Amino acid sequence: MALDIFKITGPVSLAGAVTISGSKNAALPIMAATILAPGKNTLLGIPNLSDISVMCKLMEDMGCKTNADGGSIAIDTTNIEKPFGDYEIVRKMRAGVCVLGPLLARQGRAEVSMPGGCAIGYRPVDIHLRGLQELGAKIELKNGYIVAHANGGLKGTNIFLGGPFGSSVLATANVLSAAVLAKGKTVIESAACEPEVTDLANCLVKMGAKISGIGSPQLTIHGVKHLNPVEYTVIPDRIEAGTFLAAAAITKGKLKLKNCRLEHLMAVVDKLRSMNIPVEETQDGCEISSNGRIQPTDITTLPYPGFPTDLQAQFMAVLCLANGNSVITEKIFPDRFMHIAELSRMAANLRKEGPHVIVSGVEKLIAAPVMASDLRASAALVVAALAAYGQTVVNRVYHIDRGYEKIEEKLNAVGAKIERQSV
Ligand code: EPZ
Repeated sequence: MALDIFKITGPVSLAGAVTISGSKNAALPIMAATILAPGKNTLLGIPNLSDISVMCKLMEDMGCKTNADGGSIAIDTTNIEKPFGDYEIVRKMRAGVCVLGPLLARQGRAEVSMPGGCAIGYRPVDIHLRGLQELGAKIELKNGYIVAHANGGLKGTNIFLGGPFGSSVLATANVLSAAVLAKGKTVIESAACEPEVTDLANCLVKMGAKISGIGSPQLTIHGVKHLNPVEYTVIPDRIEAGTFLAAAAITKGKLKLKNCRLEHLMAVVDKLRSMNIPVEETQDGCEISSNGRIQPTDITTLPYPGFPTDLQAQFMAVLCLANGNSVITEKIFPDRFMHIAELSRMAANLRKEGPHVIVSGVEKLIAAPVMASDLRASAALVVAALAAYGQTVVNRVYHIDRGYEKIEEKLNAVGAKIERQSV
């Protein structure tokens, strides 16, 4: 793995237009769902990211053929030779667990590694397993693998999918993907309502699945016997868009985001407005202009349509320069605060109290060498570095490359000064 670093010189003021890529977190479960539709599927709007390549590798290992070509991926799922998700792959990318439901529904069995540890905290998969068991799967854990069988086939039923922190995005994806081929009717209560789940449901419907209540916490599925391969375009990445909004906000910038669905970002737009940063809808996206006088605010992360946990770190960076004190509360992943120590190295004033962080606004951030720890925490360091005085060096940029397509090229095109170096 190349250990690239970013050298970021600030402060800058961003201006211009940025085109948002397709959504990573919509693409990954949709790729897995093509297992349900034997044949040649074509997915469009797929970002060129390392996580996408990892999912291709996982699917190729089981006998699928994948071919990525500038924003589209052809996935031929005609043959599944072994319904298996290797530890070496799933430990690198938790979304690998998304193949469990589709494999079980199509092949009647699956063996997928339990995902490994994660920098954003403990992330169990009990809700995934509970949902699949309710559909009739027999599940055992063996040598770190989830071994699942559905000998007589899966059977529809009523399933409650809530957990201690609300709904689960990928558990909903897994159980929904299994239920579309189950016999009879399934009702999923407390389904996740994130746009990425809606996108998966819409893709499954295009394959021939019968799903109602899409976008709501109650999904009703009438099982069908088989699904057909599709051509499908995934939604734009709302988290990438939100990250660029944060970058504009912190740099007194004026950015136009193209290929952005503002209706997926209402909680974020609402917070930006309360921070005195207007965002206007345009024909294919939005426009943000920040005069740099950022008002403090309180942010609580919640399941959709609440403020997304995947933007908590980036908005913490912005609030570091607000004109007063803000409180950030993390309600999805209570330990997702690896960025606090690194932002503090840049002269931010942050105090953690359990799942709350008190952000006392400072006059300026100062460049420092910092370490990327996970995808969104690293994005927060880039956002902070754009406004910080001096040259920030962000180490372990491979975390950012998992989820942001050409981030330095996109930012440099609107006025950032970021240099990538291989060390
Ligand atoms: C998805 O992860 C995203 N990943 C995450 O984005 C995102 O942060 C998260 O949803 C929340 O929005 C992908 O889509 C690939 P969850 P997921 O299950 O589905 C608890 C990024 O940066 N839980 O909705 O794995 C869990 O611990 C990534 O792009 C259980 O207790 O998250 C958490 O507290 C990081 N048992 C809460 O539910 C379970 O079986 C919500 O997690 C599953 C989850």
